[in-house]
Amino acid sequence: MDNLEGAPLVFFVNGKKVSIEKPDPRDTLIKYLRRNLYLTGTKEACSQGACGACTVMISYYNHQQKKIAHYSCNACMTILCTLHGTAVTTVEGVGSSRNGLHTVQSNLMKYHGLQCGFCTPGMVMTMYTLFRNNPSPTHDDLERALEGNLCRCTGYRPILEAFKKSCPCGESKCMSKDGGAEEVKADKSNDLKPSKDESQEVIFPNELQTDSSYRQKSVKFIGGGYTWYRPTSLKDLFQIRANYSDAVIVMGAQTVLGANIRNRRTTPVLVSCTAVSELKEIKQDEKEFVFGSAVTFAEMEQFMLPLKTKDEKDDEGTLVAALLEGLRWIAADQVRNVATIGGHLMTTGPHDLQTFMLTCEATLTFQYSADKEPFTVKYSQDFDPASLPAGSVLISVRIPKLLKNEFIFFGKQPYRRGMDYAIVNAGLLVKMDEKTSQITDLRFCVGNIENKPQYLEKVGESARESLCTDKLLENVGQVIVEELQNSKAEQLRYKITLASAFFFKFYKRLCKLLKLSDEAAFGLTPTTSKGTQIYDVPTADGSTIIWQPVPHMAAKSITTGEAVYVDDIPEYKTELALALVPSTRARAKILSVDFSNALKAPGVVDFVDHTDVPGKNLYGLLFPESQLFAHPEVFFYGQPIAGILANTREEARAAVKLVKVEYEDLPAVFTIDDAIEKASLFDFSNSTVRGNLEQGMKESEVTLEGVVETGAQEHLYLEPCSTLVVPKKEDKEMEVFTGTQDATGTQKHIGEFLGIPCNRVNVRVKRIGGAFGGKVIDIVPQTGIASVAAWKVNRPVRCVFPRDYDVRSTGKRHGTKAFYKVGFNKDGKINALSLKFYANAGVVQALSPFVIDQMMTGLASIYDIPHYHSTGHLCKTNIPSSTAMRGFGLPQAHFVIQTMMFDIAKHLNMSFNKLRELNTYKEGDTDPYGKVLTDFNLPRCWDDCKSQSKFETMEKEVATFNKENTCRKRGLAMSPCIFYFGYPPLLANQAGALVNVYLDGSVLISHGGIEMGQGLHTKMCQIASTVLGVPLDLVHLCETNTYSVPNTVESGGSFVADINGGAVKIACETIKERLKVLEQAMPQASWNELIQAAFFSRISLSATGYYKPRDKGYDFSKQEEGGEYCQYHGYGAACSLVEVDVLTGEHQILKTDIVYDVGKSLNPAIDVGQIEGGFVQGCGMMTSEQLTVNPDVGSIDAFGPINYKIPGIRNIPKDFNVSLLKEAAGGHKDLYSSKGIGEPPFLLAVSVHLALREAVLAAREANGLSGNCRLECPATPERIRMACAGPIVDRCIGVQDEKKKIQV
Ligand SMILES: Cc1cc2nc3c(=O)[nH]c(=O)nc-3n(C[C@H](O)[C@H](O)[C@H](O)COP(=O)(O)OP(=O)(O)OC[C@H]3O[C@@H](n4cnc5c(N)ncnc54)[C@H](O)[C@@H]3O)c2cc1C
Ligand code: FES
Ligand code: FES
Repeated sequence: MDNLEGAPLVFFVNGKKVSIEKPDPRDTLIKYLRRNLYLTGTKEACSQGACGACTVMISYYNHQQKKIAHYSCNACMTILCTLHGTAVTTVEGVGSSRNGLHTVQSNLMKYHGLQCGFCTPGMVMTMYTLFRNNPSPTHDDLERALEGNLCRCTGYRPILEAFKKSCPCGESKCMSKDGGAEEVKADKSNDLKPSKDESQEVIFPNELQTDSSYRQKSVKFIGGGYTWYRPTSLKDLFQIRANYSDAVIVMGAQTVLGANIRNRRTTPVLVSCTAVSELKEIKQDEKEFVFGSAVTFAEMEQFMLPLKTKDEKDDEGTLVAALLEGLRWIAADQVRNVATIGGHLMTTGPHDLQTFMLTCEATLTFQYSADKEPFTVKYSQDFDPASLPAGSVLISVRIPKLLKNEFIFFGKQPYRRGMDYAIVNAGLLVKMDEKTSQITDLRFCVGNIENKPQYLEKVGESARESLCTDKLLENVGQVIVEELQNSKAEQLRYKITLASAFFFKFYKRLCKLLKLSDEAAFGLTPTTSKGTQIYDVPTADGSTIIWQPVPHMAAKSITTGEAVYVDDIPEYKTELALALVPSTRARAKILSVDFSNALKAPGVVDFVDHTDVPGKNLYGLLFPESQLFAHPEVFFYGQPIAGILANTREEARAAVKLVKVEYEDLPAVFTIDDAIEKASLFDFSNSTVRGNLEQGMKESEVTLEGVVETGAQEHLYLEPCSTLVVPKKEDKEMEVFTGTQDATGTQKHIGEFLGIPCNRVNVRVKRIGGAFGGKVIDIVPQTGIASVAAWKVNRPVRCVFPRDYDVRSTGKRHGTKAFYKVGFNKDGKINALSLKFYANAGVVQALSPFVIDQMMTGLASIYDIPHYHSTGHLCKTNIPSSTAMRGFGLPQAHFVIQTMMFDIAKHLNMSFNKLRELNTYKEGDTDPYGKVLTDFNLPRCWDDCKSQSKFETMEKEVATFNKENTCRKRGLAMSPCIFYFGYPPLLANQAGALVNVYLDGSVLISHGGIEMGQGLHTKMCQIASTVLGVPLDLVHLCETNTYSVPNTVESGGSFVADINGGAVKIACETIKERLKVLEQAMPQASWNELIQAAFFSRISLSATGYYKPRDKGYDFSKQEEGGEYCQYHGYGAACSLVEVDVLTGEHQILKTDIVYDVGKSLNPAIDVGQIEGGFVQGCGMMTSEQLTVNPDVGSIDAFGPINYKIPGIRNIPKDFNVSLLKEAAGGHKDLYSSKGIGEPPFLLAVSVHLALREAVLAAREANGLSGNCRLECPATPERIRMACAGPIVDRCIGVQDEKKKIQV
């Protein structure tokens, strides 16, 4: 084998053959697709295998079975060399806007299943692959396939809907009733161009079918300083091993192995074993199953599935069922299709099937040379791959079959159901004496507590020779605690409760199986998702383009992967890549920075630091407060100190690690509590005062005090921050392509950094792959340093943040803590409220003063409290400066106020809804900021939501359910929301637009708003089309740039369509007005004739529009005399029904009903998308998205979707019903009576948290605990579980949680 010549790597991409002479194993498929083939449809969002944006389909010919096989995988994790003899299909190969869209693509467009579009190509490829493999998937198959694809914008519902409609099986399966029918009114999108002809599908290359050598012959590639062997037999494998004893085995490379290869942390000889036929074998006899080490999880599952009995109940306790359960919840299809059992067992875990193998005492067979016999090792908790004889290759794993009267169970508890690692997993193997029904042996194993799975020997000992009685359960429960309590694991108390819960569940299932007792209902009720969307279209006859649910204007480009994001712009020949050198301390003096080793690294061209800034090294929103390059101190982990420029981003990133920075550490502060204690506060506060607090408290019959906390939230937009700066050759001109939400701010900052006027800097933004407030100011370091670098080397410079750096170095939603004291009467009327509110602002103030202002208004916005006093403070800490995020402080304010109302209701033992109805403002009331509430639609939204959700009936059903169930409890709660449209500072309420009509009649519009998925450009085109009276397809919007429309305000505040729409409307009206004379003179003329005539008549066909709503802004220091803090309000109400697994703390949202007031919606399909997407993002904040900090170094623990859990497809409301409020008055009169959208629906997710609290209280009541109970935000499974209490938790009270998570 070793005498093989280095061969070319051959594979096909979208039908075209690719042959690479010297393939480099460091190259991933995504890199090759995007940068060598310029197929940029495949997106790189995380590079961690955890988001699915890079999903592609791989096909190969199975010469044994004589058929073509297809599977999906993540291109970011796929080593190019593994593709020899395969065909890759990317989104570009599925359909195109020129040749026609595939049904999967056209339906995504038709059913509005996309917003920013960054996840869309991955979604397309996942579904395309599913349908190629399974022409009649069930609804569950669809949901399961999407588990590996994250979307931060849509809330998944329309994506699922689109795929149900694309399904080849049609009505029969996934669209069957329980899959949910929608009720969309006046959807005009059905008349889209027909989908692509199926005959245009990429054909599997004949060459791969006829030439078996691609897959069946051993090959060797030499490239990049590596030798890559791909043997196809054990003999060849051992021959390589004989020559290179330290050669590294590569399987699916879904572990750190891929990164090690890319960073040259392996030996230079790599052996890919996935084609070794002996390692691919799966066998069984009456004694055991044998899986070759190269068998993938998907192949294991395919083998096991037919062994399942038809009636699932008969599988209970069997090896087949337990193994399938283990396989089912490992990662997602994209990983399961390539990851192997060998790699799984040969790495440090803890991994799910390691615990399984320990439970069933699997045997591993190894061999280290062709002339030595294989040897076996029992899989034990002491198993250590490093202690095996050198060169040992895992050949197979043998799983013994169960004997009669043996039963096995397996389970895993993740943070998020679908695509997540286990918090704890566990397996139980029991042997029973047939005659006596005594337990003769018992193996209980747990994983993920320590870094190896553990066999709890004493549990077995205490259970042996026992009968299955509840006494056994109690004894074992105690032993589990004793066995695990000395562990040093994080979240130890919770983990022990989970281990105990698994034992409890397995035991109960065993008793049921043995017919000793009836099984209580465990786990969450199985469900699948469905939903309805109800809205009216004022011109249902389609007579106006405005108000119509037209699809996203860029949907064709997005679904085909043609849409261009910053990193999709083709490379300039002289372009350099920039990577930033981050601080690795939270607060320290920089003693020295040594670039010498980095400069010697391959491909490195230069570095940049503070000495290279030609202008100012400072920037800020209100005043210069942040340094572009940290010097001479660092104030947070991740703060940029310098930048490295290299020929490729890989070289730049590798060289960053070689920069040596010496620090002198200084004390740092992270949390609000710390900041309060150390008086680390910014000199800024906001106070709102109404009435006489002291008197109000005195007059109240009851007073209550409480503390409410919310954690920070990461934006996790799918497109990482990306910038390309191109210095023009003359006049100091710079062209900046970037994903900023603030084009003018970026232009101004770059001008200041470089010391050049703004008229030399053109900031261009075509679209952003999600932002949510995170790309207003937090992208400035990137655009600024890239500009300084481009200036220094006078070459184009591109900077794309790696996901971990993006997460760790950019600002988050503010974590908050509120202390309240409230006075009320026994009938529930609130008299007085005193609130002290702290927000964790991070290192500088930045946007925080505005956020705290908004928080203060939010706290006072819903309930009419005569005596009211709130103060807001900003804590100064050493985390990245907290920033804007969807809702801009209102989610925290709504959470605090609703939580307080909940506390009052429980204190008075009165209906939560009644309490809130009693205190809610009424039409005509004046709020503490002097705003008279007219067209106050909140009560209507509330009442409609109450009836849409059938609240009262459901309330009774929940009570009955909770009576009948001990291990799962339900909770139901409503929540209102109010949002303010129009910024308090008047200057932020202005916008400009430019409209050009060309001589062929086509219209090009530009405006100051940024398209980041909110459908802004679509709405702007609808406005232009309506005003000009031309068909929508005549109108185009290319990009936002500072040369076309200057002096824009940042895109945020849900007010972007309002102000920019106003400007577009004015510009179009100007042109229309100019054309009036001609229209009167030529009443029969077509639009084109009119335009021709206008040109001949020397009428300008280009106009600018400038729009400034409102005459009054707001000054918070003057309160009631402050002016007008907003232009109008938006309202909504939601009702959520949740279910909690009391034993684990896992939950699901069974149903959510929303009624939302969007006035006369400019585009109801887009607005419904914003409501659903905002709500689901809010659910993330309320439940799973917890940010913690490592106090030793000050880094944020999260580094991407792999360990920061945003909602996935399984976490959305199972029954999701959205209605737009009918005949909603009070819309923005200048803009077709519409209202803004984007942020407010996020606030409605508070209903989920309130419902969870109800469920928790029900669980506590069942455990004999009456009264109220706090539940922190986010309500993670751990918090829910510990709050539910009960005997298992009681047993763990004494366990010391030494490693506590520090939430920020
Ligand atoms: C996004 C994502 C999500 C995940 N989610 C989960 C999850 O939910 N639960 C879970 O348990 N795991 C999860 N994993 C981990 C996954 O299960 C393992 O990474 C996978 O099983 C490793 O298999 P592989 O084929 O990729 O191994 P590789 O990465 O190729 O190899 C791993 C190691 O094993 C060695 N090795 C492999 N085969 C042999 C052999 N035959 N003989 C000797 N040495 C060998 C290799 O040299 C290497 O050191 C996840 C991984 C990713 C990327
Ligand atoms: S980019 Fe590949 S999975 Fe996220
Ligand atoms: S549309 Fe899915 S991430 Fe934006």
